[in-house]
Amino acid sequence: MSKQTDDLFKNIVSHAKEYGFVFQSSEIYDGLSAVYDYGQLGAELKNNLKTYWWKSMVQLNENIVGIDSAIFMHPTIWKASGHVDGFNDPMIDNKDSKKRYRADQLIEDKIDRYEKDGKSDKAAQLQQDLDDALNADDLPRLKTIIEEHNIVCPVSGTKNWTEVRQFNLMFATQMGAMADGAEQVYLRPETAQGIFVNFLNVQKTGRMKIPFGIAQIGKAFRNEVIARQFIMRMREFEQMELQFFVRPGTELEWYEKWKETRLKWHLALGSNPAKYRYHDHVKLAHYANAAVDIEYDFPFGFKEVEGIHSRTDFDLKQHQEFSKKKMQYFDPEINQNYIPYVVETSVGLDRLFLTVFANSLVHEDLSTEEKQDSRVVLKFHPAIAPVKAAIFPLTKKDGLPEKAREIMNKLKLDFNMQYDEKDAIGKRYRRQDAIGTPYCITVDHQTLEDNTVTIRHRDSMEQERVAIDQLRTIIGDLVSWNNLLDQLQ
Ligand code: GAP
Repeated sequence: MSKQTDDLFKNIVSHAKEYGFVFQSSEIYDGLSAVYDYGQLGAELKNNLKTYWWKSMVQLNENIVGIDSAIFMHPTIWKASGHVDGFNDPMIDNKDSKKRYRADQLIEDKIDRYEKDGKSDKAAQLQQDLDDALNADDLPRLKTIIEEHNIVCPVSGTKNWTEVRQFNLMFATQMGAMADGAEQVYLRPETAQGIFVNFLNVQKTGRMKIPFGIAQIGKAFRNEVIARQFIMRMREFEQMELQFFVRPGTELEWYEKWKETRLKWHLALGSNPAKYRYHDHVKLAHYANAAVDIEYDFPFGFKEVEGIHSRTDFDLKQHQEFSKKKMQYFDPEINQNYIPYVVETSVGLDRLFLTVFANSLVHEDLSTEEKQDSRVVLKFHPAIAPVKAAIFPLTKKDGLPEKAREIMNKLKLDFNMQYDEKDAIGKRYRRQDAIGTPYCITVDHQTLEDNTVTIRHRDSMEQERVAIDQLRTIIGDLVSWNNLLDQLQ
């Protein structure tokens, strides 16, 4: 990261903490690595992002329903899905610093360094060697590459490495009180399997006809070898996943459709299109016949936010084999039984939070010839802003606070509101700008005479005078989910 992008990222992290969006977990005990808590405003923003996703999937599509499956599942599920045997990262330890690294990431960092030093040929060759070694699951080759390219431990500076070993990313725990009879279970590493194993339950009870989808939002857990970049790579995180079940042979058409739909969904939030790109997978997982990532240009480069995979019938077939229960669907249109094919969309809620945060945080220079001025604004789309409107009495006397409270008591039935009477109005505006509140309402002496207030718009900073009894409609229209969902139709 260059100094400038490093500063940009540090600003995002410190702003998120300073204004109550994201805290390090267990901070008073010096934190827990790669685990984070969402604060009072972060929880609101996260809930709004979930609502946007849920409405766009479940409310807008007659053929998509949502479920909420348990985090604990039968351990054989993870055998069937391939996670017990194959959900691994190659890790390596430095014997001097005792630090553990992902072998492939150490090599990727070296590729970045070659690129930065203008050694593009070397970078390309190393990338090819890395891909070949990973494709062949050749762990000794990864170690040789690390040695050949003189990759040293960033902490100790030495090349005193252990062998490269596979490290399974699932967290395991015991279920049941008796040590002897306890069963090893896993904290789910993805929410998708909870959908697959409920496929027939939902299809039958909901009388769903193919093509149809099952959506789910929930926690997932991965014991990442190294976790870095704030909420990008966490050990406990949240996913929003859709499994869309289709007739075999139609999956690539649906894959293209979902690829387009999902990018549109991200862009509707008002993000700069130049910040997004598709990254098609060249090397496909054994169960996929097409896969793409939607990547966002973070201060540390383009990184995956969402994955769209055409997963064939792999998962349902595996569950049919391991559970010995038929996972078939009878298609009345063609009079045939088959195991459906699946197109999956999977977005990490925390990564989405970070894209929205990075995309919205703006430092604006407001200096005029007379004076220097600036502000920090979170330009969230009004529908997802944690606080929809703030209300300020101009002064703390003359009945203005009472009038402001009276207005707030009505508006809070519809909107998340904040009341603030401290400091000058300008300072109060700045406080709301910094947390992304789209509208500020000021109650002044004129309000007491004619029942009007001023409403100030966060982005334009323009103010207009409106009647109090219009506020609910005005704010309601501005923050409505329609403004987002309409763009997806
Ligand atoms: N069911 C498919 C699946 O889980 P994945 O690419 O491993 O696919 C999907 O994960 C999404 O989950 C990613 O695009 C990312 O946004 C998010 N994600 C994965 N691992 C994560 C982690 N350790 N921390 C935060 N988000 C993560």
